[in-house]
Amino acid sequence: MHERNSKAILFVCLGNICRSPLAEGVFRAVVEAQGRGGEFLIDSAGTNGYHTGEAPDRRSIAVGRQHGVDISGQRCRQLKADDFTRFDLILGMDRNNVKSIEARRPRNGAAKAMLFCDLALNEPLDIPDPYYGGAEDFEVVYRMIRAASEGLSKAL
Ligand code: 4NP
Repeated sequence: MHERNSKAILFVCLGNICRSPLAEGVFRAVVEAQGRGGEFLIDSAGTNGYHTGEAPDRRSIAVGRQHGVDISGQRCRQLKADDFTRFDLILGMDRNNVKSIEARRPRNGAAKAMLFCDLALNEPLDIPDPYYGGAEDFEVVYRMIRAASEGLSKAL
């Protein structure tokens, strides 16, 4: 469990193979570069469990690597009931993710669920699902996640 004064953040998308693993890795890299890694518990999960146990999508690993962030060791898991008590913030990549997060909230789950860009950038933007796209779509996702991660690190 995280330390008393730490902030526990869970990044969530649909599959936990494209967007949220990048958000986990990039946000961790941003706060570690600021010497603040110890303040945070950082993880990611998917609202579906289709890819449980898998590594991130090779295109997400590639775009991370191009920008100096290694996410290859992360493994996919599904959002679960105790995430709503372990984490302070559960951040969805798009509005559908936020709806699915709320649909899974247990009665005693106190975590705050929000749209990542809304909290981080004060802009209610969806980070688009790049799964059926190409490398350029993953680059767009990376840039949005980088900007939102820097915004979130300032906000917290
Ligand atoms: P993600 O992308 O939600 O960013 O991880 C997707 C990954 C897998 C699928 C959909 C979106 N899928 O349908 O398998």
